[in-house]
Amino acid sequence: MPSPADLRHWDRHHHWHAFTQMAEYEPLVIARAEGCRLIDIDGREYLDGASSMWCNVHGHNHPRINAAIRAQLDRVAHCTALGMGSDTSAHLAKRLADIAPGDLEHVFFSSDGSSAVEVALKMAFQYWRQCESPQPEKTKYIALGEAYHGDTLGSASVSGIARFHALFKPLLFEVLRGPLPDPRNAPPHSRPVSGRHLAPANTVEVIDASRPAEAAGLSSRASAACDYFLGEIEFLLKSHHHEVAALVVEPIVQCAAGMVMHPPGFLRGLRELTRKYNVLLIADEIAVGFGRTGTMFACEQESVVPDFLCLGKGLSGGYLPLAATLTNDAVYHAFLGGFHTGRTLHHGHTFSGNPLACAAGIASLDVFEEEQTLARLPDKIERLSEHLCRIAEHPHVATTRQRGLIGALELTPNKRTGEPYPAIERRAWRVCRETLARGVWLRPLADVLYLMPPLAISLVGLDKIMGVLLQAIDLVTKNGDA
Ligand SMILES: Cc1ncc(COP(=O)(O)O)c(C=O)c1O
Repeated sequence: MPSPADLRHWDRHHHWHAFTQMAEYEPLVIARAEGCRLIDIDGREYLDGASSMWCNVHGHNHPRINAAIRAQLDRVAHCTALGMGSDTSAHLAKRLADIAPGDLEHVFFSSDGSSAVEVALKMAFQYWRQCESPQPEKTKYIALGEAYHGDTLGSASVSGIARFHALFKPLLFEVLRGPLPDPRNAPPHSRPVSGRHLAPANTVEVIDASRPAEAAGLSSRASAACDYFLGEIEFLLKSHHHEVAALVVEPIVQCAAGMVMHPPGFLRGLRELTRKYNVLLIADEIAVGFGRTGTMFACEQESVVPDFLCLGKGLSGGYLPLAATLTNDAVYHAFLGGFHTGRTLHHGHTFSGNPLACAAGIASLDVFEEEQTLARLPDKIERLSEHLCRIAEHPHVATTRQRGLIGALELTPNKRTGEPYPAIERRAWRVCRETLARGVWLRPLADVLYLMPPLAISLVGLDKIMGVLLQAIDLVTKNGDA
């Protein structure tokens, strides 16, 4: 058996970690997990405050999901999706079609979120060549500011986070870039339009702790912001719709952008605009799907049925690599025809629809039902909200915001102005280092601290995460130059 020191060395030297500066990487090697706790090779325990990068739903090592994977393993571990399938992938496809919004009943499986987005982009592109009234000039995409849809070159092209993607620009295709619909960035005089505001019941709106007196005006400000951003999108659509195949959006919350929460009504407005201008809508719910925002899918909150729904991460409960692109009859039928029509979608991955991963997916949906996961969320959402309200009072917290079981906050040296700390000080990163030392694993997004625990987190677990976070913030902001 290798010693913990060996493992740390191998992890540090041989394993090149994702999105990690290896020159400063301090090995954290997990040996096992239980519920929402990760346990490292030295036996230290950490509450998983970021759901193992936004994918764990019901907790780790869940007996129901483990048993389903084991049972599948005794039957068949893998068979291809090229020209055949498994009983398990067929079953999961049906379960997804049953719970997806509207008429999204055709499911294309892949193994990671980036691929699910690539598939939607390619389907949309090919659709316009093969639909009843072909429009082959529709070859472009509209994507939002600071979008994140993955790291493969197609998904990176529609993404727009400079620090991740700017270097690769020469390799990426051009997209029409919309705004980042962050209500905090809307011009102050954007005018509200009555009837636009569609606040979902379980939404805690953006709390601007630096200007609490403005809280009462939040709804109308959000409504005005919504109208403003939709106006920007319409401007793009008006002049480019004839060449646009699809618009791609992360519904409700742009997670990688720093948990940016769209103004209520924005998604619904996008659906209306894409219909008006005959452009397909791709909803990338890879991060927000499976209950994160309080409903099974974020699209449900604004009664939106997209043309494509991309799922990943929580699709297998966060257990195994699995992603899916769902679409409707209209798109699906455009790909049907005899062999010589060339209508086939020439795309696939070796492990598309892998039965082990699909077994985990089915078991995860079973757990949603058996444990009433969604019905039990409101109490947790409420508790997170109480904690965020308390943290908003901290002298070095500038803003807090929340959607469902996703919370976020920014630090400031000056509560009055809300200005950020200089990026070079890496305050958010230091806070996470302090929480780790106190048994809570969090990972910042640049200057943003966020919380996205597994939906299975208990109220006690939430209290611990938030208590430790507050302690760590105190520590890292107390001393100006620590
Ligand atoms: C919204 C969104 N889309 C796509 C992806 C890419 O998924 P994956 O990392 O599985 O390729 C992510 C990953 O964080 C995401 O948040």
